[in-house]
Amino acid sequence: MEQDEFIRKANHDFQSGSPETVLKHFLNLYGNRIALSSSLGLEDQILTDMVCKIRKDARIFTLDTGRLFPETYSLLDKTNTRYGIKTDVFFPDYVSVEKMVSAEGVNLFYDSIEKRQRCCRVRKLEPLKRAFKGLDAWICGLRREQSVTRHGMKLLEWDEANSLIKINPLINWTEADVWDYIRKNNVPYNVLHDKGFPSIGCQPCTRAVQAGEDIRAGRWWWESPDHRECGLHKH
Ligand code: ADX
Ligand code: SF4
Repeated sequence: MEQDEFIRKANHDFQSGSPETVLKHFLNLYGNRIALSSSLGLEDQILTDMVCKIRKDARIFTLDTGRLFPETYSLLDKTNTRYGIKTDVFFPDYVSVEKMVSAEGVNLFYDSIEKRQRCCRVRKLEPLKRAFKGLDAWICGLRREQSVTRHGMKLLEWDEANSLIKINPLINWTEADVWDYIRKNNVPYNVLHDKGFPSIGCQPCTRAVQAGEDIRAGRWWWESPDHRECGLHKH
């Protein structure tokens, strides 16, 4: 398949390229048909910094599930101001949320994996589909080291579920690389990271971790580690 060959070649050609080189190449290649999908996590803040240094008008969007931490909303504002950008914000469809909540309650996610995945579907996946309109490629902040579910991921992948090229410029970065870039470039980050939250998602599904615990141990902590994905990153 033509797509497979394109991805194989890009993974080969960029295997030792810096994230900035990768971003420059693909932002130029896809123009306004590429966007950064930002959760405002550390990795996405780095990518925002890099993208804005390459092209200020590049598309950046975030999915506001309606259940985010107040600190995350503050960071969204701060990031827009700092870089002089307007991050596009996508919300869940209110009819779907109302239907789900009236049938299952506001905190359905604690009941079962199925209900948790339903909430993620309504609050994240459906808005993501709308965010993808007009795109050929999306940029994500995934790192291989983040979890067992991400070990096999590559710099470039074919996102079968959405028929898009998916680009993970920080795929090989370590946690130390991340903090090093944040500090050297004075990148704004979520204040919760300094309070024991290495990975931040929705408020009811994220808690602080103890020193030495896995960085994603606080995400959907009541589920087993090999289920802890919201469906955004099927592999
Ligand atoms: S999650 O699937 O467990 O929530 P994680 O928080 O590690 O994902 O983020 C991985 C990548 O998914 C981010 O770097 C970002 O590209 C994308 N992502 C996750 N949550 C969001 C969100 N709310 N809005 C936009 N992109 C997101
Ligand atoms: Fe719902 Fe939790 Fe998924 Fe957020 S992370 S969409 S609150 S189940």
